[in-house]
Amino acid sequence: MSEWSPIAAVHDCPPGSVVERIVGGRVVALANVDGVWHAIDGLCPHQGGPLGRGRLCGSVVTCPWHGWQFDVASGRHGLSPTVRQECFPVREEGGRVFVRIGADGGPTPPSAGGGPPA
Ligand code: FES
Repeated sequence: MSEWSPIAAVHDCPPGSVVERIVGGRVVALANVDGVWHAIDGLCPHQGGPLGRGRLCGSVVTCPWHGWQFDVASGRHGLSPTVRQECFPVREEGGRVFVRIGADGGPTPPSAGGGPPA
């Protein structure tokens, strides 16, 4: 899967919130940080907790199961530099939000081009 896929309506995820969605078989945590969208792998690497059901404070999402924290802009764990969630490009168009999951299920570089479906 390497195309833009709809993930949510803009009103589904107001500023300061994070939601969980399934896109192309992947669990994705979509976050709205003061109007800027970010999408990361939604499965916490600790024990698989749902990051998209966590609490967002600034750009930091806290896993609801045991409190691991990740920056949604970089995917980086708050304490361990070796732990990093995959990040996915996000676009907003026409009141909808789109995410692009890489062909191998991993992230796609933002410079890969393309756009959301018309
Ligand atoms: S599963 Fe996320 S902190 Fe444990």
